[in-house]
Amino acid sequence: MAKVTVHRKAHFNAAHRLYNSDWSDDRNATVFGKCANPHYHGHNYELIVAVKGEINPTTGFVMDMKELKDLIAEEIEEKLDHKNLNEEVEAFKSLNPTAENIAVVIWNILRKKIDLNLELIVTLYETPRNFVVYDGE
Ligand code: NI
Repeated sequence: MAKVTVHRKAHFNAAHRLYNSDWSDDRNATVFGKCANPHYHGHNYELIVAVKGEINPTTGFVMDMKELKDLIAEEIEEKLDHKNLNEEVEAFKSLNPTAENIAVVIWNILRKKIDLNLELIVTLYETPRNFVVYDGE
């Protein structure tokens, strides 16, 4: 049976600050630039969740897109949208909320909810030009 990748786009706004608490303010500013601003700043994150697998002969779907939409809304948008990632999201209390780490956190949440016969790939845009991809490796 043919393998097809289905994609669902989603969106959330969130604030963050990138810093390493073991470093001085100067070193944080050097490494993270404006993202080290102690007063936080926001991004409009664009999320693309890709699910790859064989088409189910009964439904003609790889995955029911309504189910994927609801999953992303409940498990990701609800938890991250309009949040201060450092202060309000447990995963980032001890993990720098870079695009890389946010993508891994999102993947880990969704992986538990999607059929293991399906591959999962998370793409996260932090800006229109900067994006990361995580596929579980
Ligand atoms: Ni930033």
